[in-house]
Amino acid sequence: MANRRVFSGIQPTADSFHLGNYLGAVKQWVDLQETRDTIYCVVDMHAVTVPYDPELLRRRTRVAAAQLLAAGLDPERTILFVQSQVPEHAELNWVLGCLTGFGEASRMTQFKDKSAKGGADQASVGLFTYPILQAADILLYKTNEVPVGEDQRQHLELSRNLAQRFNHRFGETFVIPDAYILPAVAKITDLQDPTSKMSKSSSAPQGIIDLLDEPGVIRRKIARAVTDAEGSVRADDAAKPGVTNLLRIFAALSGQPVAILEATYAGSGYGTFKKDLAEVVVDAFAPIRERTAKYLAELDVLDAVLLDGARRARIVARETMSEVRDRCGFPAAS
Ligand code: AMP
Ligand code: TRP
Repeated sequence: MANRRVFSGIQPTADSFHLGNYLGAVKQWVDLQETRDTIYCVVDMHAVTVPYDPELLRRRTRVAAAQLLAAGLDPERTILFVQSQVPEHAELNWVLGCLTGFGEASRMTQFKDKSAKGGADQASVGLFTYPILQAADILLYKTNEVPVGEDQRQHLELSRNLAQRFNHRFGETFVIPDAYILPAVAKITDLQDPTSKMSKSSSAPQGIIDLLDEPGVIRRKIARAVTDAEGSVRADDAAKPGVTNLLRIFAALSGQPVAILEATYAGSGYGTFKKDLAEVVVDAFAPIRERTAKYLAELDVLDAVLLDGARRARIVARETMSEVRDRCGFPAAS
């Protein structure tokens, strides 16, 4: 039997991915290459749902792709591409949009949160229909599993509903995708405000560790991470959110279970624990930072990798779209 198909996307909206993106998404993408048929996408069309600068987008799309390759995505085993280079995403978006209820789209909490920030009148229609484009991304590739963080669960549910609705109305076409969410890293929190998600839009710089941060910056941010007055290294989400978050990060990056880390640092206070954690993060991130810089120094090579990814993605996407066109009653495209 063929391996299960995995698809995921990430927006090129920052100059660097952060630790939450890395553990909640990127690291899993890399790990899943071992056992799954993987397709990953830098979703630049999602990034234009809010006001943006084209030159900055162009740069960040490449920086995002370079980080993914540097983190271990292997173009021999994975299809890595940029969304706007495969026009079938926009095509399927239209078909799915016509199957989505206005009320259904209005219930998406991410739209409510994002539009509330700028004032609902300022929000674009593209921001409103963002989850439908995400469903198109996923369904085009007959995806079985979608690795994401907890915040994407509702969007995944919409993708499943749209796939089921299309199949029911027009005949079996799409695979119903499952969310793939690892509970241990589903929500990495802000180092300064450990009950909130680590987030590029809401966290202060000291609350976030960027994948491309210099080692000295990483050490300083971890040394200053908010903990508590108890002084004992143990996990307790309600009473000790800061220490628990640091334990989760340590466990995810080192592969050691939280219980073992608690035993190792029992009685040693937070200083040693934080120092060791900082080294674990630096050891994980420094090589990625160096490799990212190498990819960015050879843009023609990077662009060629992405173009080849788009070519391979398009073979799959075209095949799905020709089925979709037929089921919808559209004539065949050339
Ligand atoms: P975003 O930066 O919000 O576009 O998210 C990109 C990917 O990283 C998505 O799969 C998110 O679910 C995941 N992600 C973002 N922030 C976190 C976080 N703090 N903890 C875990 N996963 C996250
Ligand atoms: N909405 C996702 C996020 O903000 C990004 C995304 C776009 C995505 N298309 C996708 C994730 C398809 C998984 C599958 O993180």
